[in-house]
Amino acid sequence: MTQQPKPVADLSEAEAKAELERLAAEIARHDEAYHGRDAPVISDADYDALKQRNLALEERFPALVRADSPRFKVGATVAEGFGKITHKVPMLSLDNGFSDDDVRDFVHSVYRFLGQLPDQSIGFTAEPKIDGLSMSIRYEDGRLVTAATRGDGTTGENVTANVKTIAEIPDRLPAGAPAVVEIRGEVYMAKADFLTLNQRMAAEGKQTYVNPRNTAAGSLRQLDAKVTASRKLKFFAYAWGDISELPADTQHGMIEVFKDWGFPVNPLTKRLHSIEELIGHYNEIGLARADLPYDIDGVVYKVDRLDLQARLGFRSRSPRWAIAHKFPAEKAVTKLTAIDIQVGRTGALTPVARLEPITVGGVVVTNATLHNAEEIERLGVRIHDTVEIQRAGDVIPQILRVVESPANAVSFAFPKTCPCHLKTPVIREETAGGAEGVIRRCSGEFACPFQRKEHLKHFVSRKAFDIDGLGEKQIEFFYDDTSLPIRQPADIFTLKARDEANGLQRLKNRDGYGDTSAQKLFDAIEARRSIALDRLIFGLGIRHVGEQTAKTLARAYGNWAAVHEAAIAIADGDKAAIEEMDALDDIGPAVVEAVGRFFGEPHNIDMVEKLVAQLSVLEAEKPSQDSPVAGLTVVFTGSLERMTRDEAKAMAERLGAKVAGSVSKKTDILVAGPGAGSKLTKAQDLGLRTLTEDEWFELVG
Ligand code: IVH
Repeated sequence: MTQQPKPVADLSEAEAKAELERLAAEIARHDEAYHGRDAPVISDADYDALKQRNLALEERFPALVRADSPRFKVGATVAEGFGKITHKVPMLSLDNGFSDDDVRDFVHSVYRFLGQLPDQSIGFTAEPKIDGLSMSIRYEDGRLVTAATRGDGTTGENVTANVKTIAEIPDRLPAGAPAVVEIRGEVYMAKADFLTLNQRMAAEGKQTYVNPRNTAAGSLRQLDAKVTASRKLKFFAYAWGDISELPADTQHGMIEVFKDWGFPVNPLTKRLHSIEELIGHYNEIGLARADLPYDIDGVVYKVDRLDLQARLGFRSRSPRWAIAHKFPAEKAVTKLTAIDIQVGRTGALTPVARLEPITVGGVVVTNATLHNAEEIERLGVRIHDTVEIQRAGDVIPQILRVVESPANAVSFAFPKTCPCHLKTPVIREETAGGAEGVIRRCSGEFACPFQRKEHLKHFVSRKAFDIDGLGEKQIEFFYDDTSLPIRQPADIFTLKARDEANGLQRLKNRDGYGDTSAQKLFDAIEARRSIALDRLIFGLGIRHVGEQTAKTLARAYGNWAAVHEAAIAIADGDKAAIEEMDALDDIGPAVVEAVGRFFGEPHNIDMVEKLVAQLSVLEAEKPSQDSPVAGLTVVFTGSLERMTRDEAKAMAERLGAKVAGSVSKKTDILVAGPGAGSKLTKAQDLGLRTLTEDEWFELVG
């Protein structure tokens, strides 16, 4: 969020592929947080930005569209605890527009698709976009039979009993209604009811809800319908699914029929014709928004005639005949009382503004993110300032600007040490261009309690130690456990011995564990006591040392003792060690620096030593042993003509040689191309063996 992602146009295909994979996972995570747990962690605007980036990437690289692309997904998967209902007609989503131009594009695309000229105007309905959760309510022979949430658009949760408690939703339809009809619309909670409920929850010492939407979702998801009944939920009907007979031929006509059948329909729904009318109406609704008794987050435009809707049809997840014109985020003015520092998973220090509580669009806001020190500087914000904040249907609002700065305002000094008990120095990384990056990190890594849990999760992950039965969930469990804690990697390998000393508290007697599963876990841990060198290196979670880099290091150094020795030397600033690692194929200064930093931290050294004492680390597969250069240290200098420097390095390493960047007594061979300078002179001074490029090829065959 803090770093500007590279523009889509600048990404290589490989980068795009990795980015699409990352986006699919990240968006799925947010979908789960939003739909599965009713607890979003990013703003709608940030979420939309992720989706837009995904789409832009897919547009540029159509061949890279993933089977699990977020574009094919509408919502979240079904939560456990409710039965499932498969929608006869899928519940789709809407495309979003943010600007007047987006509305123009939408209307023009409708005209274009239908082959009509812009002056032959087509009617639209404009409906407020209610910020609740969509529901499909099925009536057969006039009786309410089932009600389902959207779920993933295909399958939703069966919440019939809960929906039946909503007074505004009729149980029966009048005579003459179609034999089968699914009414679709939005279940929501009025702002006032949300505030009352939250006050009550707070008074009872219970967790309060974030906003009316999440409250409505949470209220509907109660397994006990009595709880739902006690919450004042409301409903607006605006669409339909499976239907045996259409009672009208326009969207507007359908809404009027729904009203006649006894459903609440939104009074601000309007029929309009031109782009100007749509935008004018949107602006009017925007002005009225704050005073509406319920939250809305935009205006939905739909082609009015159903025959035209049918011709326009659908894209993969949204209709071509509709668009949601979203409102910008809501704003408010309040006082900043303090700035605290939070430490994230990667040790990034994020300043958080504490605010005098203020209601923005029905939600009480007390915190806002400040991203980083540059953001604080850019805003010029100081403690005690009055600030304008913005919230976009989200959890963490942002500070837009300083409105007023009183005489007693205090500048915030970004801490130079981590707020964790270690008080490790905070470091700034360099960007690719060599400039100082905006992110400050705690260098404590494994030692910083804020980061430890996340490091442990990485340690047990699939490409690292990959221990069956010890995943993220179990790390959470054991980390906080008092009788059998796992606080550092070594603890995993002492788990069994410690468990045996625990008597009645034994793992097999605990909730969620029995004799077999406890034994299985111990066996799985035992199986990993002997570990491949590259997995160990990767598992340490050193920044910039990914799976591939770990493999390179393992291959280059061969065994743990050599890796360890090199790392400690690098941490001590040993030039030769630094150059040796830097010279490895695919390894750059960022890795070398990160290794040095990691092993420069006494807590990390201690952690690693304790861990390695528990393990038997396998030697890396030795590259070719029988090549004429195996085990030798080679330096390339001058311009090479038959291969690039990278190729030369890779080749030498494949043949079991070590490639170094500078000439020293340890150098065995110097390969010198035309234009070789000081390195060649030095090699000659030292009496080293020097070869031309051709001689090198002769030697290695
Ligand atoms: S129409 C095929 N109309 O917005 C189109 N949706 O972003 C079906 N929503 O899932 C949706 N007010 O939960 C429609 N007047 C309205 C709406 C509305 C709110 C929600 C609904 C939908 C989401 C799409």
